[in-house]
Amino acid sequence: MTAGIDDIAIYIPRLYIDAADFAEARGLDPVKLQKGLGVSQMAIVDANQDPACLAANACLRVMEKNNLSPDDIGRLYISTESAFDESKAMNSYVIGMLEQVYGQGSFEHCGGVETKFACVSGSYALYDNTNWIRAGEAEGKSALVVVSDIAKYDMGSSGEMTQGAGAVVMLLNDEPRLLEFDPKVTSTSIKDEYDFYRPFGKETPIVHGQYSNLLYMIQVRKALEAYKKKVISSNLIKMKENETILDHMDYINMHLPYSNMGKKALAYLVRHEWRQLPRWKNILEQIGMEEPIPKDPRGTIESVLADEEFMAKDHEFTKLFTKTQEYQDVFESKLSSSLIASTMIGNLYTASLYLGFRSSLEFEYQKGVDLEGKRIGFGSYGSGSSAMVFSGLVQPEYEEIVKSMNLEAEIGQRKRLTWSEYEELHENKLTPEQSKVHTKKEFVLVDVKTDVESRGERRYVFTS
Ligand code: COA
Repeated sequence: MTAGIDDIAIYIPRLYIDAADFAEARGLDPVKLQKGLGVSQMAIVDANQDPACLAANACLRVMEKNNLSPDDIGRLYISTESAFDESKAMNSYVIGMLEQVYGQGSFEHCGGVETKFACVSGSYALYDNTNWIRAGEAEGKSALVVVSDIAKYDMGSSGEMTQGAGAVVMLLNDEPRLLEFDPKVTSTSIKDEYDFYRPFGKETPIVHGQYSNLLYMIQVRKALEAYKKKVISSNLIKMKENETILDHMDYINMHLPYSNMGKKALAYLVRHEWRQLPRWKNILEQIGMEEPIPKDPRGTIESVLADEEFMAKDHEFTKLFTKTQEYQDVFESKLSSSLIASTMIGNLYTASLYLGFRSSLEFEYQKGVDLEGKRIGFGSYGSGSSAMVFSGLVQPEYEEIVKSMNLEAEIGQRKRLTWSEYEELHENKLTPEQSKVHTKKEFVLVDVKTDVESRGERRYVFTS
C-alpha cells in the first residue's frame, strides 16, 4: 500500500528579532549572521504561546483547508524537543485545544504520542505513521504528524544566533497528493553522544556547536551509506557506473539548525560521494590543492576538531570546493530553494527539515519547474544522536497543493521586536496577558497553574 504526505501547513509566531538588531546588540558583524550563518530573521514566541499552541494552530489550518472533520483523523503525533511536562504528552494538549473548535470528545478515537529524539524525532514519527497506513491499519483515516519547537538558547551564547520557533503539520494518507514515500529504503544511524542536550528542568540546551555540526554530517553520511545499500538491493534505483546516489535525488532537503548548515552538510556529502569517481580529478585540478587529511585519520571527533592545521586547511578546501561550477549546479538545483524559509524564520529544531521541504516546493514551483515525479531525498539529524535518510516521489496532483503556497501570507504580518522586548520575552518576564500581539482565531495560552495540587496545568483559549 502507498503512503505519504497529502498536505502540509505551518504556523509561525508573529514576533521576530532581526539579524541586524541582534548583531548590533551583541557587538557582532551583521554579515556573520546574514552571510556566515544565513540568518536574517528569527521567529520568537509571544508571552501567550508555547509549542502546544503552535502545533494546534498548524493542525487547525490543515484541517480547515482540507475540510477535514475529527473523524477523518486516526492518529495525531507530536514530535518536539521543547516539552514542558515529563509525563503528559503534548498531543493531549493539542487535542484539548482542537476540541474547543470541533466539540468535546470529537477526537476521542484518535491515538498518538509525543516523540523525542532532538531534531530527528519528527522523521521517526513520519516513518511510523507511514507504516501504520501501509499496514492497512488506518481504515481510510489520515494521520497528522506535527513537528513543533521553540529553539531557545542561553543569552550571550553562540547558539543565540540560531534561534527560531514554529510548527509544521503533515497530513499523511494512502492517496497522497504531494509526496509518496519510497518503500523499504528508510535508513538510520545512531550513537550515544552529548553534542546537544537539555537536562531536566533546564529551559535551554547545553550545546557543543562545532562538535554537533561535524557529528551531524558524519551521522547523515552513515545513514546515506545504509540508504544506498537498501536502494540498490530493493531495485528502487539502478545505479550506473560513475554515478552517485545523489545523482538520483532531484532535490535534497537537509536538517537546518540555520540555513547555511544545509550548504555545509550538502558539500560534505557531495565531497564524500564524488571522491570515488573520475569527476573528482577535474574538481581537484580546479581547487588546486590536495584534499587535506587529519593527522589521525581514525581519531575521534574531538581529535579532528583539535587538529587546527587540518581544520584550517579543510575549511579552505571546502570553500574552494563549494565555488566549483559542478558543486554550484548541485547546490542551486537541489538545495537552494529549501533554505529560503529558514533564513526568514530561523531554527525550528524538529520542524526545520520540513519547513525546508515546504520551502523547496514553493520556490521551485515559482521557478516554473514541473515537479511531478521528482525524487526528494531527506537528510534528518537529531543530536544525541541519530540520523535518518529517506526519499519520496512528488505526485501528479502536487500542483493542487503547491500552487497556493505563499510563505509570506502564511507567516502573516510580523512585529519586529526591539532589543528590550526581546530580552523581556527571553527572560520569561511577561505573563500571557502581556502578550505583544493579539491574534484572532488562534489558540493561545492563558494560564499555567502554580498551586501545589494543580501545578503545571495549562489553560488555552481560541481567540475570537
Ligand atoms: N562575515 C562573514 N562570515 C563570517 C563572519 C563575518 N564577519 N564571521 C564568521 N563568519 C562565518 C564563519 O566563517 C562560519 O562560516 P563557515 O561555517 O562557512 O566556516 C560562520 O560564519 C559561523 O561562524 P563560526 O565562527 O563558526 O560561529 P560560532 O562558532 O560562533 O557559532 C554555531 C556557530 C552554529 C556553532 C553556533 O551558532 C551554534 O552552536 N548554534 C547551535 C547549533 C545547533 O543547535 N546545533 C545542534 C543541532 S544540529
